[in-house]
Amino acid sequence: MMESLRVAAEFLRKLGEPEVAVVLGSGLGDVLPLEGEQVVSFSDVPGFPRPTAPGHKGEIAVGKLGDVEVLVQRGRLHYYEGYSPEEIVFPVRTYALLGVKVLVLTNASGGIAEGLSPGDLVLIRDHINMLGFNPLRGPNPEELGPRFPDMTRAYDPRLREKAHAVARELGIDLREGVYLATMGPSYETPAEIKAFRALGADLVGMSTVPEVIAARHAGMQVLAISCVTNLAAGIAKHPLSHEEVLEIGRKKAAELGRLLQALIPKLSR
Ligand code: HPA
Repeated sequence: MMESLRVAAEFLRKLGEPEVAVVLGSGLGDVLPLEGEQVVSFSDVPGFPRPTAPGHKGEIAVGKLGDVEVLVQRGRLHYYEGYSPEEIVFPVRTYALLGVKVLVLTNASGGIAEGLSPGDLVLIRDHINMLGFNPLRGPNPEELGPRFPDMTRAYDPRLREKAHAVARELGIDLREGVYLATMGPSYETPAEIKAFRALGADLVGMSTVPEVIAARHAGMQVLAISCVTNLAAGIAKHPLSHEEVLEIGRKKAAELGRLLQALIPKLSR
């Protein structure tokens, strides 16, 4: 595995040496154009799996935001698509080998906490892993990180402070909450959402947690922003649809783009 990660990292190094990597989730793929960006598709990168979810592009761009070199991954891999845990975290581990220090993850989620509405942007403070797997299972690649990595400050408190400060400056309402990841692809039942709320979850979604675990394992700092695209099952008065998730994602994309554009140049220093 280390060898294929190195090959992928060497391939991407031809595009540049980004300090920050950003993963854009459902319906959010267009929010962050970079200056002078060079784009490759997932299928161009040796070892990278191809994303299959609707609303996900599957490309990687490297370019600049201000004077910071940034990599943007437009589209991501989900467990429900059939990828192995190792495949899901392959891109993030590649970025670590490429020298990326800060990983920014975005996703779409269902709102569980009281007071959340579709369209809200929420900074993830912590997570609950209900995916049923951990991407670090198996022999530990010691070159990447330790066998038992700490997850206490998985979502970097300093980066979160910066995000709140930039959001305030821009007049963007940014909340904070705990994200619970499920396997999907079926949305949750109302009983599950009730249980997740009792467990302390504010948001529910089907991604992000594997990438965060792999990034922390490899020593990257993490910031994650969720766009609430719908109220979770049983809280919403109507059945959930993927179209609804994509539509709200697109509507909020401009605001999220503004936030990321102003924030990312400040994250690496
Ligand atoms: N549940 C799980 N994943 C999601 C949801 C949801 O309600 N909305 C967007 N992604």
